[in-house]
Amino acid sequence: MKAVLFDLDGVITDTAAYHYEAWKALGTKIGIDIDEEFNEQLKGVSRTDSLNRILEKDNKQAAYTEAEKAAMATEKNDLYKTLIEKMSPSDLLPGIKVLLDELKAKNIKLGLASASKNGPTILDKLQITDYFDEIVDPAELTAGKPDPEIFLTGAKQLGVDVSECVGIEDAAAGIDSINAADMVSIGVGEAKNLGKAAKVVPSTADLTVDLLENVWSETIGRA
Ligand code: BG6
Ligand code: MG
Repeated sequence: MKAVLFDLDGVITDTAAYHYEAWKALGTKIGIDIDEEFNEQLKGVSRTDSLNRILEKDNKQAAYTEAEKAAMATEKNDLYKTLIEKMSPSDLLPGIKVLLDELKAKNIKLGLASASKNGPTILDKLQITDYFDEIVDPAELTAGKPDPEIFLTGAKQLGVDVSECVGIEDAAAGIDSINAADMVSIGVGEAKNLGKAAKVVPSTADLTVDLLENVWSETIGRA
């Protein structure tokens, strides 16, 4: 294992809860109920695709012009930005700082493969920007998760073959993206949502370098 590619929201920090809150508020405004189960489908999915999925849920995609949809996406993002305003290093999920330190000590390269355009801001607030050798810019991609493009781009930026990479995700779309990139996938969350991962752990506190290396060598060994 020469590199680890991290998802951000829901893996490094719990912004997944803020995304949910902001979409729910927009949903309430336009009369579409978003519950936790539906929200699982939005995790890892870009802002525009998330809005489309929400509108499709109640068959309302034709009810708005593209300009209205863009305004709704901006409104959601504005609320999201106020929710993340006060983030600090104390918002790192359990075990993440130790994991980043351990990976760095072993000279393993680190990449960020987040669909979020707010990613760099959040890394700054968490004070972990310097840990990352490469950050994939989601604005440069043609296809979002579950397409493998974001993880393939991350490996390319890091100069590491996909067979030497592990990807960590909290979303089903993200696990599909890692698997489609032919990397070893580790899911954080519930096995019922992340069943296709090579390994699922319930908490980020379970993510140790030993675990990552063991899952990587067992999965590569099986291939
Ligand atoms: C992903 C989140 O990381 O980023 C999604 O899981 C979010 O919920 C997506 O929609 C895009 O984020 P942003 O910050 O650019 O709206
Ligand atoms: Mg995520």
